[in-house]
Amino acid sequence: MSVYEETPFFRLREFKKKDFYRLTEIARAINRKALRCQKQGYFPFYAFQVDQTVSDVDTILRKKVQIFLEKAQKERSVWPRSTYRLAVENQKGDLIGNVTVDMLPILEDGKIIYGDLGYFVDPRAAGRGIMTQAVCQVLRYYFKNNERLDITAHPDNVYSSRLIERIGGKAVGFVQQSHYQNEPRRVFVVLKKDFEKALLHLERLHKIRSHSVCFRTHICQNQR
Ligand SMILES: CC(C)(COP(=O)(O)OP(=O)(O)OC[C@H]1O[C@@H](n2cnc3c(N)ncnc32)[C@H](O)[C@@H]1OP(=O)(O)O)[C@@H](O)C(=O)NCCC(=O)NCCS
Repeated sequence: MSVYEETPFFRLREFKKKDFYRLTEIARAINRKALRCQKQGYFPFYAFQVDQTVSDVDTILRKKVQIFLEKAQKERSVWPRSTYRLAVENQKGDLIGNVTVDMLPILEDGKIIYGDLGYFVDPRAAGRGIMTQAVCQVLRYYFKNNERLDITAHPDNVYSSRLIERIGGKAVGFVQQSHYQNEPRRVFVVLKKDFEKALLHLERLHKIRSHSVCFRTHICQNQR
C-alpha cells in the first residue's frame, strides 16, 4: 500500500511551496481558536504557536510556516525517507491539515522514540473524523514495519488526547519538560495490535454513521 492512497473524503500529498498562504491562514485560525477555546481543551499546534502579546505576531507566524514548509522539503529528500510530513486535502482539493510521522526511531536523551506523530486540522474542517482517518491512513503505512508508536500531548489538550485514544493509544506516563517548547506532556503508546483493533471499531462506526446519514437523507427526500 502507498501512504498517498486516495479516499472519498481526503487525500494525502506532499507539501508544495504554494501551500504557504493557505497554511498561514490555517495557522492563524488555529491560534485564534486556541485563544478562544483553551478552557475547553483546545491547544495551538506547537510549531505555529506565537506569543500573542508581541507586536509582530503575524511576521513571526509567517516565518514559522516558512520553516515548516522548508522542513517538509528537506525531509522529503532524505533517503531512506524517515519523516513523512504530509498535507491533507479535502474532496475539493483544498488544503485542510497535516499529519507527520517519523518512520525511523529517534534517539532523544538516550531514549528511543518510535514514530513521534504530529497533526493539525483547519478548525473549519474539524470534528468530522477526517483527521482520525488521515492519521489512520499514515499509521497503516507506519505499522507495516513497526510494532509501536510513541506520542505525547499536552495534558490539557483534550482534542489531541481523544484522537490518540481513538487510534488505540494508551496513556503510560508524563514528562514535565518535553522537547515541545519545554511544555509538560502526557506520554502515550500505540501498539500495533491496539491500532488494528481501533481501526476495526472505527471502520464499523464509520459504516454506521454513513448509513445513518444516507437513511436520514432518504427520509428527508421522501418527506418532501
Ligand atoms: C487535534 C486535532 C487535529 C483533532 O481534530 P478533530 O477535529 O477533533 O479530529 P477529527 O477530524 O478526527 O474529528 C473527530 C470528531 O469527529 C467525530 N467523528 C465523526 N465521524 C467520525 C469518524 N468516521 N471517525 C472518527 N471520528 C468521527 C468524532 O466523534 C470526534 O468528535 P468528538 O471529539 O466530539 O468525539 C485538532 O483539535 C487540532 O488541529 N488541534 C490543534 C493542533 C493540535 O492540538 N495538534 C496536536 C498536538 S501538537
